[in-house]
Amino acid sequence: MIFAANFKTNHTRKSTEYYVQDLNKKLGAKDPEDKVYIFPPATALDNYEGDFTLGVQNAYPAVNGAYTGEIGLEQLDEFDIGTILIGHSERREHLGESQKTVSEKFSFFQEQNFEIIYCIGEPLHIREKGFEAVMQYLLAQFEGIDTGYENLIVAYEPIWAIGTGRSATVEEISSTHRALKKVIDGKPLLYGGSANPSNIKEIISIAGVDGVLVGSASLEVEKFSKMFL
Ligand code: 13P
Repeated sequence: MIFAANFKTNHTRKSTEYYVQDLNKKLGAKDPEDKVYIFPPATALDNYEGDFTLGVQNAYPAVNGAYTGEIGLEQLDEFDIGTILIGHSERREHLGESQKTVSEKFSFFQEQNFEIIYCIGEPLHIREKGFEAVMQYLLAQFEGIDTGYENLIVAYEPIWAIGTGRSATVEEISSTHRALKKVIDGKPLLYGGSANPSNIKEIISIAGVDGVLVGSASLEVEKFSKMFL
């Protein structure tokens, strides 16, 4: 199973350092088959050591150049980062990333052979229309995306379940993952949206779930580690 912590705009360089120290104390007890990822904010990227993968929440699809406010490959290389989140609903919604932008970013980091955790998810009004509408919406988020890419992991994160404390139901996760698995040819598929220590057992026991992408419940090591220990 994959347990990925997306800090979003939380934690500082200093608090991430403490987080990593505490996380490392817990990681010795995890199942060696399980993989842990952390995605701190860009200012907290560093050369951390430990049995986890350090990834970046976002980057600009360029090696370097005149892209004010962005970071590119050169800044990631400094810390040997080879894992990136692309397509998170918060970037699509609040930062205005279109499918075209997202797919260009995907192609660039694919060319760099990055491990890509590609995020998709539908808003509530689409979920309320029923399963077919959901699948149609999710399939559109694969436009321009090479689903055959070998370093691809997909994260299904229904927007209405993110940060709301209301995770999708077992049936909703199960049916959506079953359908998505066919689209991505069996590649690893994570669930995200209010995953926490209380519902984790249930979520990871669903067929077609290969792990979780966790926001709020990942911010404290104590809470996050309960999910994989
Ligand atoms: P929450 O776990 O806070 O719902 O966030 C999920 C998420 O968006 C992870 O990328």
